Amino acid sequence: MAKANINKLAMSLYMVVIVSFLLTSTIAESRSTPSIGFAVAKAAPSCDTVFGVRSGDTCFGIVQTFKLTTEFFDSINPNLNCTALFSGQWVCVDGTAN
Ligand SMILES: *[C@@H]1O[C@H](CO)[C@@H](O)[C@H](O)[C@H]1NC(C)=O
Repeated sequence: MAKANINKLAMSLYMVVIVSFLLTSTIAESRSTPSIGFAVAKAAPSCDTVFGVRSGDTCFGIVQTFKLTTEFFDSINPNLNCTALFSGQWVCVDGTAN
């Protein structure tokens, strides 16, 4: 009996979380300006290892150094502009693309 009540409570809390999430996304979508927090949480890949770009580094060089593929590198660095790579910039060299 007690266990069933706990399950019911957990279920209610779960529903509250789902409803809040739905409300948040509805509000975010109804705004004309995109909600950056929401969009990033949904689309951003997770990065496990970052690399500090040094002078002379190129995306191609980094891809080779870390034995990655260009596709994988691009997928974990979706907003990276390799034409404008600069010394001191952080790029992701290991992670999970969504
Ligand atoms: C990348 O950077 C270069 C040089 O600053 C710029 O000309 C180009 O428009 C940028 N590309 C994108 C997709 O932002």
